[in-house]
Amino acid sequence: MALQKVVNVCLFVLTMAVGTLGSGHHFDVTEYSASPKGSFDSNKMAFLDAWQAMCGFNGNATLIVPTGTFQVAPLIFAGPCKPGQHKLKFLGTLVAPSDWDKEHEAWIEFRELNDIVIEGGGVLDGQGANAWSQKKKNMPISVHFMKVNKGRITNLSIKDSKGFHIAIHQSDNVVIRAITITAPFDSPNTDGIHISGSSHVRITGLTIGTGDDCVSIGPGSYNITVANVHCGPGHGISIGSLGKYQDEDNVAHIKVKNCTIAGTTNGLRIKTWPGSTASEAFNITFENIKLDNVSRPIIIDQDYCPNNQCNPNEPSRVKLYDIIFKHIQGTSNTQDAVTLKCSKLVPCRDVRLIDINLKPLFSSLVHSIDSFCSNVLGLALGIQKPNPCLQH
Ligand SMILES: *[C@@H]1O[C@H](CO)[C@@H](O)[C@H](O)[C@H]1NC(C)=O
Ligand SMILES: *[C@@H]1O[C@H](CO)[C@@H](O)[C@H](O)[C@H]1NC(C)=O
Ligand SMILES: *[C@@H]1O[C@H](CO)[C@@H](O)[C@H](O)[C@H]1NC(C)=O
Ligand SMILES: *[C@@H]1O[C@H](CO)[C@@H](O)[C@H](O)[C@H]1NC(C)=O
Ligand SMILES: *[C@@H]1O[C@H](CO)[C@@H](O)[C@H](O)[C@H]1NC(C)=O
Ligand SMILES: *[C@@H]1O[C@H](CO)[C@@H](O)[C@H](O)[C@H]1NC(C)=O
Repeated sequence: MALQKVVNVCLFVLTMAVGTLGSGHHFDVTEYSASPKGSFDSNKMAFLDAWQAMCGFNGNATLIVPTGTFQVAPLIFAGPCKPGQHKLKFLGTLVAPSDWDKEHEAWIEFRELNDIVIEGGGVLDGQGANAWSQKKKNMPISVHFMKVNKGRITNLSIKDSKGFHIAIHQSDNVVIRAITITAPFDSPNTDGIHISGSSHVRITGLTIGTGDDCVSIGPGSYNITVANVHCGPGHGISIGSLGKYQDEDNVAHIKVKNCTIAGTTNGLRIKTWPGSTASEAFNITFENIKLDNVSRPIIIDQDYCPNNQCNPNEPSRVKLYDIIFKHIQGTSNTQDAVTLKCSKLVPCRDVRLIDINLKPLFSSLVHSIDSFCSNVLGLALGIQKPNPCLQH
């Protein structure tokens, strides 16, 4: 009995010690004079002071924003920091200003960091309404990863961003998990998550409803997994747009699986601009996807040219190959269930449609659905509804 007690006490002391080590040092922004009553700029200064202290701390450390609502001006959490895992725990709500000058392309930017975690169950409110009404391009991103190696964003709610909600650029080894992203269905360019120039990004367990793409995967993206994501409303999951700018990097090794997409304009899409410079996108798989009430469930569009910003007579030079759509089921609210519109200069190769089971949305005016192919080589295998335009 006595021995058991000693063992228990020892275990307890050991657990405490490990717990303290594991959680590391805490930096609460309110101890740096952030306050729910503070102005955008004074809270920004307090957040940055807390960040400087945490970033300079050698070892694991956590910056805490407690419960309450904090308005905060655009800020950059820049590294490099001292070694250790740096964590930001947002328990409360952060509110962005409704406008700011051009200096900041993002509201909350994380730059040149190694091993960073953002979590806490809080809310990031981008206050986008003003920006949306201006209908301008390149509106600020709410959460921007720039040159982050080993980053995690989890357990947050991000809403009403002016531009993209989350953007990942020039980063490696990033996990985005258990996030809710919301903005009105008619808010322009409010993509849920945009990735470019990055590799090893895993997006899983999200609910995203915005006015633009749910997830968009741009040039220079490699080894990206999107799994267990629910999209809608919005424009669906997109690879692209690709080929808009000179000398773009390729896109490869992309997997989108076990997702549901409802009430969106597109479902699973690859879009490239006409008249672009040469690049490639390959080894892309869309698998186990449920679509409901989608306007263009499966679409490859190599004539993507919104607002006539291109010469539509020039074919796209983005070469698409090794593209798989597998186990895709659900309903279309237009006749255009499957559209594979490829470049006449570089036709799509090795496109495989495997077990495609789509039907017209019961409550819509659509009575039949079709597939359309141009300049595409590939195979259709297994169940095929609509009738495939590829060799069956
Ligand atoms: C720092 O945090 C990481 C990740 O949670 C953990 O694996 C590591 O053991 C921690 N290091 C210390 C010294 O507590
Ligand atoms: C999310 O954050 C809240 C608030 O900190 C916490 O209670 C909850 O356990 C977290 N959920 C997960 C899955 O980590
Ligand atoms: C991505 O994964 C592929 C296949 O697993 C591998 O060959 C390639 O080197 C990886 N690319 C990058 C940029 O990590
Ligand atoms: C598929 O995603 C749903 C949530 O969207 C999740 O509940 C389920 O566990 C996932 N299935 C697999 C096999 O990962
Ligand atoms: C294709 O991409 C997957 C990841 O989605 C990767 O595991 C696989 O190795 C890649 N195939 C080739 C041939 O590179
Ligand atoms: C289909 O989606 C649209 C939005 O895109 C929505 O307005 C409509 O109510 C949905 N219809 C059904 C039957 O779910």
